[in-house]
Amino acid sequence: MTTLFDKYGGFATVSKIVREFYRQILQSPTLKPYFQGANMERLIDHQTKFIAHVLGGPAEYTGRELGAAHARLAITGEAFGEVAAILQETLEDAGMEPADVATVMGIVAGARGDVVTA
Ligand code: HEM
Repeated sequence: MTTLFDKYGGFATVSKIVREFYRQILQSPTLKPYFQGANMERLIDHQTKFIAHVLGGPAEYTGRELGAAHARLAITGEAFGEVAAILQETLEDAGMEPADVATVMGIVAGARGDVVTA
């Protein structure tokens, strides 16, 4: 069975999606402060592998558990909602079909409890 990862062009597409995702996040006054002091290149590398994994690609995600990675950040529900909206828009702009966007967003929604701690 073809994975979403293969369907949408593999690492080249995922990498483009992730870069556009963070470009928009850093333009948001709500979100930018959370990422002050984060090593963006490392973050982009992890996020690329994570999204590739969610799409069924070959990359092994070797970063910390999501709960541990976000625990000290006191992320609000509002901030989470904004990140999710940016991701959805980025996937749509990359030409992903609505049903596939819904699949990915369902997985993201499932991680809300691990990420939102404020
Ligand atoms: C489902 C939603 C999310 C997913 C799947 C996700 C995924 C990740 C991943 C894979 C990492 C890297 C962990 C590591 O390096 O070990 C990370 C780190 C980080 N995330 Fe998220 N994230 C999500 C939501 C958010 C939100 C809503 C915010 C802020 C508003 C946020 C802010 C950060 C920051 C600042 C880091 C760096 C932490 C550090 O280096 O100490 N994330 N995230």
